[in-house]
Amino acid sequence: MEQDGGGEDYLFKIVIIGDSAVGKSNLLSRYARNEFDLHSKATIGVEFQTQVVDIDGKEVKAQIWDTAGQERFRAVTSAYYRGAVGALVVYDISRRTTFDSVKRWLDELTTHSDTTVARMLVGNKCDLENIRDVSVEEGKSLAEAEGLFFMETSALDSTNVKTAFEIVIREIY
Ligand code: GTP
Ligand code: MG
Repeated sequence: MEQDGGGEDYLFKIVIIGDSAVGKSNLLSRYARNEFDLHSKATIGVEFQTQVVDIDGKEVKAQIWDTAGQERFRAVTSAYYRGAVGALVVYDISRRTTFDSVKRWLDELTTHSDTTVARMLVGNKCDLENIRDVSVEEGKSLAEAEGLFFMETSALDSTNVKTAFEIVIREIY
């Protein structure tokens, strides 16, 4: 895993899943590049970013994968999940249908993962309080029932984005 001169001690694959337009790509771009796009296009296929994180003095390299929420734009599912040790399962707090889909995403993750995966339920777009459709309590209790970490985030104003990724990375490590 160690790359010449890079000195990274660990390499972890993390996947981001959830319905289309919940903000998966913007969470990743906010975390990896501190960028946000109000008019981002739906992802087609798979993209990933690597991020080097310092955890207790160790360099941890996180390879974070992002794919399309829309079925027709998705790449081969098994390849996407292969080797993943962490997952962010994202819904949009302003659209209940995306919260209702969480169970389906968790099932898919379970079906395709070969090891224990550190999982974080992410209620994104918490800046949209005025049009909230899923309460914090509902998010929390689903996470508790399924044994997941939970956090509300905003890729737009950066709330908890770094924390959400780094809790997962720390848990794996
Ligand atoms: P797919 O690639 O189709 O699966 O969608 P996605 O989950 O990657 O969503 P994407 O990141 O492309 O964001 C969809 C839309 O939501 C874009 O218009 C973003 O600007 C917007 N968006 C993403 N995150 C936030 C957020 O935290 N707050 C608000 N208000 N809008 C957001
Ligand atoms: Mg996307």
